Amino acid sequence: MDASASSSSGKEKAVVSFLRKPRILLAACGSISAVKFGDLCSLFAEWAEVNAVVTKSYLRFIDGQTFPKNTQVFSDKHEMFHWGKLGDSVLHIELNKWADIMVIAPLSANTLAKIAGGLCDNLLTCIVRAWDYRKPFFVAPSMNSFMWDNTFTEQHCITLEDLGAILIRPQKPNIDGEEAEYEHSLMEEPSNICSNVRVSYKQYLEKRVCRGEV
Ligand SMILES: Cc1cc2nc3c(=O)[nH]c(=O)nc-3n(C[C@H](O)[C@H](O)[C@H](O)COP(=O)(O)O)c2cc1C
Repeated sequence: MDASASSSSGKEKAVVSFLRKPRILLAACGSISAVKFGDLCSLFAEWAEVNAVVTKSYLRFIDGQTFPKNTQVFSDKHEMFHWGKLGDSVLHIELNKWADIMVIAPLSANTLAKIAGGLCDNLLTCIVRAWDYRKPFFVAPSMNSFMWDNTFTEQHCITLEDLGAILIRPQKPNIDGEEAEYEHSLMEEPSNICSNVRVSYKQYLEKRVCRGEV
């Protein structure tokens, strides 16, 4: 990760970010949809620079996932490894400054609740707690229908949207009857997440141009 570009400021920084590939911070939580994260990284890597952040729980779901060549994957252990003494840079701030866009896919019910409550007890939630919501921030939840239909989920999603997050809703299983209750509301397909983010980012840049920021 090279965060040196983040030392420039204002208009100059905006122009540089407009001309280069977007820098996307992709994050994943411990969920049944964790298996889709490698594909998601590959799709984003086709048009963006990608760094990845995963939770400790995510690592319990995935055994030897392959990531694109230039994608670094960070987890909690890197946060302390990266920092040695007062004055050293802090990983969650470096990743935060590096990123133009953040996407959490899959987002678990647990991390959704933590973000909505402002908690920051791991690398991922520290990055989010420090996030500047003027930059695009997407979340793609994945959870079973019991969790998804729970009032807490609705409240937490509203809180995130109020902050400025863009919610990519999970797919509802297309099954009638009792069975459907037990189905997971699966995370949206990686290709749809990728195209959704791409279109939104283009619109975001166009707005910045209109406002004379770039
Ligand atoms: C087999 C299995 C599947 C799970 N799938 C999901 C899921 O799809 N969505 C979810 O929110 N939690 C799911 N969980 C629960 C989370 O893994 C758990 O809440 C965990 O603490 C999330 O940690 P994280 O938010 O730090 O990644 C699942 C747990 C198990 C054992």
